[in-house]
Amino acid sequence: MSSESPDDHPIGIDFGGSGIKAAAVDLAAGDFAGERTRIKTPDPATPDAVAAVFVELLASLPEGGAGAPVGVTVPGIVRRGVVGSAANIDHGWIGTDADELFTRATGRSVRVLNDADAAGLAEVRFGAARGQTGLVVVTTLGTGIGSALVHDGVLVPNSELGHLEIDGHVAEKRAANSVRESEELSWAKWAKRLTSYYQSVERLFSPDLIVVGGGVSKHAASFLPMVELDTPIIPALLLNKAGIIGAALYAAGES
Ligand code: BGC
Repeated sequence: MSSESPDDHPIGIDFGGSGIKAAAVDLAAGDFAGERTRIKTPDPATPDAVAAVFVELLASLPEGGAGAPVGVTVPGIVRRGVVGSAANIDHGWIGTDADELFTRATGRSVRVLNDADAAGLAEVRFGAARGQTGLVVVTTLGTGIGSALVHDGVLVPNSELGHLEIDGHVAEKRAANSVRESEELSWAKWAKRLTSYYQSVERLFSPDLIVVGGGVSKHAASFLPMVELDTPIIPALLLNKAGIIGAALYAAGES
């Protein structure tokens, strides 16, 4: 049993292309403190439409009291709460002060960060990279490619390594999981593209460990052994919980 009262549990919200998911997080356990709720992402997913969904989600979470801080992941660059890019989301996000918008809409203290940065914080604190010193690069393979650079537990935000150029293309347009699906690539063909990608990351950053996240990481056994790399590369552990847990960590100021 944790000694925290339910009101102390920070809430994480994961804003993704298809669903917006939220849960209260027990930071002592590194896990959800109650049920996760999910609402379909509105279309178009403008900042105001998404803020309205957050209000609904928060009302349905009994475990996070009204005083609990809220962390939110956004699939774009976020600097001091302001969204700076929108590669795979509504362009209305660019320039939006999301901290301010969500704090006003929900009446809670809200802090926003990049989705892959949230996953990185969670994997380093509670997941696959727990206890790892030096430089960890956490990547998420989904609609795009997200990345987090964490050095000795400290996040360097907004690394955006999905936008590195490989073989003359933006990496995420060649090697994201959505590309594997749309081009119907075999695991072996995809692993070749991932090898080019991760070799670039290795050359540029000399990481001590690379963690591969995103929903497809549950199939890691089908492709990771074919990725040729000198750096240890391992699947993420927290899978679809990483964004929510990382957002809650960030909201609670524990990152
Ligand atoms: C965005 C990143 C995001 C990643 C994963 C990329 O297209 O530029 O900010 O982390 O997708 O969602």
